[in-house]
Amino acid sequence: MEQYAIKGGNPLVGDVEIGGAKNAALPILAASVMTDETVYIDNMPDVRDTNVVLNAMQDIGVSIKRAERHKVVVNGGNIHSLVVNGEGVKKIRASYYFLGALLGKYKQAEVVLPGGCDIGMRAIDQHLKGFRALGAEVNIEYGLIKAKAEKLVGSHIYMDVSSVGATINVMMAAAMAEGSSTIENAAKEPHVVDVANFLNSMGANIKGAGTDVIRIKGVPVLHGTEYTIIPDQIEAGTFMMAAAVTKGDITVKNVIPKHLESITAKLLEIGCEVEEADDCVRVVASKPLKSTQIKTLPYPGYPTDMQPQITVALALASGTSIVTESIFENRFKYVDELTKMGANIKVEGNTAIITGVDNYTGASISSPDLRAGAALVLAALAAEGVSLVDEIKYIERGYEDFHLKLRGLGAQIDLVETEKDIRKFRLKTS
Ligand code: EPZ
Repeated sequence: MEQYAIKGGNPLVGDVEIGGAKNAALPILAASVMTDETVYIDNMPDVRDTNVVLNAMQDIGVSIKRAERHKVVVNGGNIHSLVVNGEGVKKIRASYYFLGALLGKYKQAEVVLPGGCDIGMRAIDQHLKGFRALGAEVNIEYGLIKAKAEKLVGSHIYMDVSSVGATINVMMAAAMAEGSSTIENAAKEPHVVDVANFLNSMGANIKGAGTDVIRIKGVPVLHGTEYTIIPDQIEAGTFMMAAAVTKGDITVKNVIPKHLESITAKLLEIGCEVEEADDCVRVVASKPLKSTQIKTLPYPGYPTDMQPQITVALALASGTSIVTESIFENRFKYVDELTKMGANIKVEGNTAIITGVDNYTGASISSPDLRAGAALVLAALAAEGVSLVDEIKYIERGYEDFHLKLRGLGAQIDLVETEKDIRKFRLKTS
């Protein structure tokens, strides 16, 4: 089984290019089948989750061409099945976006119940409530969510919680409903806006994405488009945090600094310098880190997907920090692994109380999920000695060439598979 071998202790310095946003790419891929015409998508991240979705699209008859590594050409004109139920899609969350997309276009869809990172309950009631409000009959049978409508009719939908997935899913279906829909208490994340922009470029009529009220006038058909996915806010934030954790100096390029404001604000608070330019952000960590308090919140608040990474930084800061996770109830599982590296963190319910330590020491650790896995890699990069990080398949779900990008910043990190590889790595880095 592949693992990362990491020799920590040196500051990461240099430039890193950020790819397209995974959590925008996944619904955009699903939405791209809502037209029979050809859709050209640029800045597509080449990560495991997007590739699972591309395979699922091929399984139902969508033609996919990868023009370049980050450019895909999609044509959904010959879809022969409205059932999305492959082995791969069972394991990811974003499979549910085929419900909104296929229901919008064909008024019918059957999609396997979604998997995804084990970080909490992850209900889908708001998705189903939205589809029902648009006139669909929705049932869960034999592990499939089945949705069907004679016709979809615009409606007023109030989301009980701010949900990225439910907002996007209902927006996709409503884009092809008859009449107008309003989604209230909509999620405002940048990827929600990106999907709305993508649909509008296909001829949809969606206004207000990025605010908590989205208004949609349904259209009968959508047409082909060319579209470039926004940069990944969380990949960018992870590299920003890598500078803080390793006392480095990293310029994160090809980003939208506005999307990173909550992360930038916390980095400044804990003693880093942050310089913003049009499409890049430089983080310099030349002073000792200071403690702070953080609560994860829907956008524009501090993202839950950046919670483990900042916890790794705060565990090296002077004083006591408090991190409260308000989105997912089970997102501190990585703390046990971090403790093996010397961190002093006590978790009580959805709160972590962190007493800073001077340094981490290398250990064998395991990624419990995507973002926590990336955060543990950052910890290993700061640690004295060699660490081995396994279950990196989770990290590969959402970070393209993670170890190569880190190596470009001076990290000593290798993909290893055998005891011999590990011995070689230890020799090379000793
Ligand atoms: C998306 O998950 C992302 N996944 C997650 O990223 C991210 O952590 C999350 O949004 C929050 O930003 C994808 O985009 C594929 P939600 P999603 O619906 O859509 C509750 C990563 O690491 N809720 O916004 O599943 C839910 O339980 C992943 O890239 C309901 O109660 O998240 C949670 O507490 C991990 N009923 C809150 O809302 C519903 O019907 C927010 O969930 C839906 C959600």
